[in-house]
Amino acid sequence: MGALCAGCFLSIVKASAPGKIILFGEHAVVYNRPALAVPVNQVQVDVEVLDSDSPGIFIDAPMVDLHGELSTLQPDHPIGSVILKLFQLLDISSPPSAKVNITSTIPVAAGLGSGAAVSVALIRALSAYFNRPMTDEQVNDLVFEIEKLHHGTPSGIDNTVITFNKPVYFVKGQPIETFKTGKPFTIVIGDTGVPAPTKESVGDVRRLWLQDSVTFENIFNEIAQISLIARRSIESGKPELLGELMNQNHELLQQLTVSSPELDNLVETARNAGAHGAKLSGGGRGGNMIALVEKETAEKVANALISAGAKRTIVTEVS
Ligand code: PMV
Repeated sequence: MGALCAGCFLSIVKASAPGKIILFGEHAVVYNRPALAVPVNQVQVDVEVLDSDSPGIFIDAPMVDLHGELSTLQPDHPIGSVILKLFQLLDISSPPSAKVNITSTIPVAAGLGSGAAVSVALIRALSAYFNRPMTDEQVNDLVFEIEKLHHGTPSGIDNTVITFNKPVYFVKGQPIETFKTGKPFTIVIGDTGVPAPTKESVGDVRRLWLQDSVTFENIFNEIAQISLIARRSIESGKPELLGELMNQNHELLQQLTVSSPELDNLVETARNAGAHGAKLSGGGRGGNMIALVEKETAEKVANALISAGAKRTIVTEVS
């Protein structure tokens, strides 16, 4: 959860938000099937809002090479538009001067939710700075609106898991359901280093679905079954069953045309290095893959992924 700086005066406010991975159900979730996602707290966005003597809202976000005043940004700038939307919602027409520092360890365009995490942390920090704190539900709704501006037809899974910072069983348009793990399990995340063109892959799946809805509906149904069984396995303390489910889910994602040679290579490498199973995670065609491992084999699998070309790995425990 984004931690607001305890005991701060109004002159400095901090908030943060985690990254995320989708365990099961990406793409099918856009078509109202369930998906499972968990936060990744090894990476995060931090936002700090401070008083400033210079007029306007000056933003410093080195990870996207942004150093500028709000009014000089295009209205659809990914960060500027978050601030403008927030001011609109809170009815703030002439905000006092402030300096906004945004730093992030979440790789950009890698399927780890960096965009949604920036929005969540920024909204929490700014709304608290202006003494108008918002509930998680309000933050989630606003970030979803922003995701729609930039990603076309998002399901809302990214903003939900990142806002609530809990494992979620997500069905578009349904009340938020979090879930508990019966037994912790370890995931290795491997980054292909290829930017994940989520908007494009979601658009391509839509075109294919329109051309052959019977085949694609069947694939979505199979993925939905996997998400259901996966949730049961996690809750009943049998995470070892997830490996085979990941392999099946990856095959279905290949059929949706959203894998890539780089993702397939890392998935295969992880399995050969001793993972119970592996799949791409997120929009696909690039970005990250995930592998279910025993804690003791995590390092071996992570090293194998790096040797096979992964740009970085993250080991995370889901508990
Ligand atoms: O690429 P990511 O991690 O933002 O994930 C996109 C997940 C999709 O199911 C492909 C799209 C969506 O909006 O749910």
